Amino acid sequence: KYPEQIELDGKSYKTDEWTNIPQFILELTKRQLHQNPNHPIGILRDLIEENFKGMGYEFYYDFKPTVTTYQNFDVLGFPQDHPGRSKSDTYYLNKEHLLRTHTSAHEHECFQQSKTPGYFITADVYRKDEVDRTHYPAFHQMEGARLWSQNTPNVEEQIKRDIESIPKTNIIVEDPFRDQPFNLENPKQEYMTDEQCRLTSIHLKKTLEYLVNQVFEKARESAKLAGSTEEYLNEPLKVRWVEAYFPWTTPSWEIEVWWKGEWLECCGCGLVKQQVLTNAELENDKFGWAFGVGLDRIAMLLFGIPDIRLFWTLDERFANQFQKGKISTFQPYSKFPGIKRDCSFWLANESPLHVNDVMEIVRQHGGDLVENVVNIDEFIHPKTGRKSQCYRINYQSMDRNLTNDEINAIHQKVEDDLVKYFQVEIR
Ligand code: PHE
Repeated sequence: KYPEQIELDGKSYKTDEWTNIPQFILELTKRQLHQNPNHPIGILRDLIEENFKGMGYEFYYDFKPTVTTYQNFDVLGFPQDHPGRSKSDTYYLNKEHLLRTHTSAHEHECFQQSKTPGYFITADVYRKDEVDRTHYPAFHQMEGARLWSQNTPNVEEQIKRDIESIPKTNIIVEDPFRDQPFNLENPKQEYMTDEQCRLTSIHLKKTLEYLVNQVFEKARESAKLAGSTEEYLNEPLKVRWVEAYFPWTTPSWEIEVWWKGEWLECCGCGLVKQQVLTNAELENDKFGWAFGVGLDRIAMLLFGIPDIRLFWTLDERFANQFQKGKISTFQPYSKFPGIKRDCSFWLANESPLHVNDVMEIVRQHGGDLVENVVNIDEFIHPKTGRKSQCYRINYQSMDRNLTNDEINAIHQKVEDDLVKYFQVEIR
């Protein structure tokens, strides 16, 4: 199924029993949308970086997408049995190399090489996932991090000054953990004092509140310009902090933004565990924070883009609408009709089938012609005990009309692969 060697970014990877990267994913790694200043993802990256210039951060944006399991997982302390490591979640070139699943894979080397107190990394990341309007196997993240040294005389005073220098916002913040950032479930690291933990957390949170403010104020402006008259657009922006867990930070949180009547998860963060820093061969005196924000969903709001697949279209009617430094609202060039196909089958007891495996097979044959895949039915036959599943696949193109013939051909290949690789019996 896979060639003996995969060539990527001038390197050659010998495939093995871990290899699971389809060709269409390899093609995506060449696109580098975040480096295109006229693409919504690139415009959003610029907008964020612009707001943090002159504040002690270095900006990285050209790390290659292939990393080792060490960089993506081990050095960050992911347990061996973490589900993120599995072949149904992650794209492997071979046992040791994979497409990064998050920008945190580069924290280690940035901590090693960065000459500034902090840094930002923007990159394309890859995960097997559902197929719908907001999920795509390739997306973008921006990582931020900042360190201080316990050897700095009066480092607490330094952090306080750094907090003061973060521009103020009108954001309304709900944060039950502001004064007491750590507890038994979300503990402090021993090598930091209570006060260092408290101040570093405040610096982290104010930084993210500022980031969110700068981006979402723009999103509100553009929603208003596009004619939205919703009430919440005139109220101050609301965010809340919830506790989270990541293997390499503690305490950890997520920031959520109130948007169109919903709490929108937008960024995981926390205080970097000492282990990550000593792994990066830094002296034992360093401490600080890191965050990772997903760019695609924010760009969808900012530019009014209804479907994440549009970021990847090569249609000029998309590309022509966006310009460096400008937040504009996407004008749909037309919505082409879709074609619906159901696929139901009996599972073979011996071959477990993960939802992501179905999604992957559909992606492989349908590519960007798949709008979404929904598991619409599951049942167990009362007599035989056999399990049946049904998926509804909505085929739709962003750029043109589809024909029944081409969809039938794709759908046939999907069914054939389900039979071939998972021994299902099509009903
Ligand atoms: N890498 C995490 C994710 O993809 C986000 C994160 C970054 C969390 C840095 C903590 C610190 O969900």
